[in-house]
Amino acid sequence: MSSTTYGVALLGFGTVGRGVYDLLNSKASPIKQKHGADFQVRHILVRNPKNPKYGDIPQELFAEDIGTIIGSGAVDIVIEVMGGIEPARSHILSALKSGKHVITANKSLLAECGCEIARRAKEADLYLGYSAAITGAHQLADSIANSVMVRSLRGVFNGTSNYILTKMDEERLDFDAVLRQAQDAGYAEADPSADVDGIDTRNKLAILTNLAFGIFPAPEQIQTSGIRNVHRKDIEFAAGLGYKIKLVGESLLNADDRIEAQVSACLVPADGLFARARGINNAIEVDDMFRGLQGMIAEGAGANPTAMAIYTDLVNLIKGKPLLWPVVKGSERRVAAHHKLPRRYYVRMEVKNCPGTLGEISRTLGRHGINIGSVHQPEASSQTAAQIVLTCGSAARGAIEKALRDVAQLDEAIGEPFLLPII
Ligand SMILES: NC(=O)c1ccc[n+]([C@@H]2O[C@H](COP(=O)([O-])OP(=O)(O)OC[C@H]3O[C@@H](n4cnc5c(N)ncnc54)[C@H](OP(=O)(O)O)[C@@H]3O)[C@@H](O)[C@H]2O)c1
Repeated sequence: MSSTTYGVALLGFGTVGRGVYDLLNSKASPIKQKHGADFQVRHILVRNPKNPKYGDIPQELFAEDIGTIIGSGAVDIVIEVMGGIEPARSHILSALKSGKHVITANKSLLAECGCEIARRAKEADLYLGYSAAITGAHQLADSIANSVMVRSLRGVFNGTSNYILTKMDEERLDFDAVLRQAQDAGYAEADPSADVDGIDTRNKLAILTNLAFGIFPAPEQIQTSGIRNVHRKDIEFAAGLGYKIKLVGESLLNADDRIEAQVSACLVPADGLFARARGINNAIEVDDMFRGLQGMIAEGAGANPTAMAIYTDLVNLIKGKPLLWPVVKGSERRVAAHHKLPRRYYVRMEVKNCPGTLGEISRTLGRHGINIGSVHQPEASSQTAAQIVLTCGSAARGAIEKALRDVAQLDEAIGEPFLLPII
């Protein structure tokens, strides 16, 4: 690229595509003055350019097909913001093959095919920007990639689930009611599973784990659960113990030098960083043996924050910054199959309201070497059933799950105990 004007093609023109277009066309943008470069949107690819939602965009910008973009000498950079696996993957690979730099916001694609795409970009000596796929955490990307020895990386990576948990907490509402509100407000999709079942968090975690540890976990290597089973009363019980509940993605290095990666609703200290990430905000905390603890809170989604993440990539590209994607092969993955790191747990269970129940539970946990840290039994509202909330001393996930399976078998137990890690 000899010119200081860079031709850009947008694949997709939804929330993020339009955000990027507006940012690059903004009169107030100081891109030229600050960086001596100009980015011009030369082509846009969507399925149906005649859709009235694109009515304000000059029709000549819409490309007939991907071939027009790939074959155009006027396009230097392809920005993929269409989402999904195909045709996004093929379009990106074609763009790289034809010598175009690529920037993508596509978390699910990178979580599935990131290594393949990064390898092709490296082979072709082209830039691959993916800050938008980790929006809200990308501001720490350099620091994470350049760390010497990360011990743990954790974050609240999904704005929708965080919005839901915040509303459940602050307005004392149930999950279903808040989900409906979030859908009406446009914060949640009609099919919310990627957000509330932890899949979006898992995708971001895989990308960040690679950046931090040079290990790219496959989706099935990240134990993943979401927030559907978090009850309003869990939030209330947690508050009584000094915690908030957040959907946390985390990768930790265990004593065997393996990564334990999981996505789960967790109890986090009410006065800590994650608790301060309210609503649609994200938070990230990285513990590096030499740097210590680093953390930040930032917006993790939406047109402007995501467009700004793409802008970060554009600036890095023109500055000649190399691609931040550790080279890994599948065989080099060192992800723990079983989680051994001991940690504390919150357990809520429903039991029969009769004498001796607590003793039976305590004896059963004791047989498995699980220590009870605290017990809370709210005044039973029914003659027959009662709630018991426990915090358990440090134990490996497998050990506590085994112990709780035995607890669930007790005559006094009603249903399955509900378990959340405490951070
Ligand atoms: N939204 C956010 O806050 C956010 C944040 C970070 C990352 N991301 C990522 O950014 C990407 C885009 O998200 P978004 O929210 O902007 O999505 P969106 O609003 O649904 O927009 C998707 C756009 O892509 C177009 N498109 C979809 N499939 C296409 C195909 N096969 N060929 C051509 N065009 C196609 C759609 O065009 P038609 O409408 O004409 O079909 C639409 O213009 C996703 O990978 C997402 O994970 C989003």
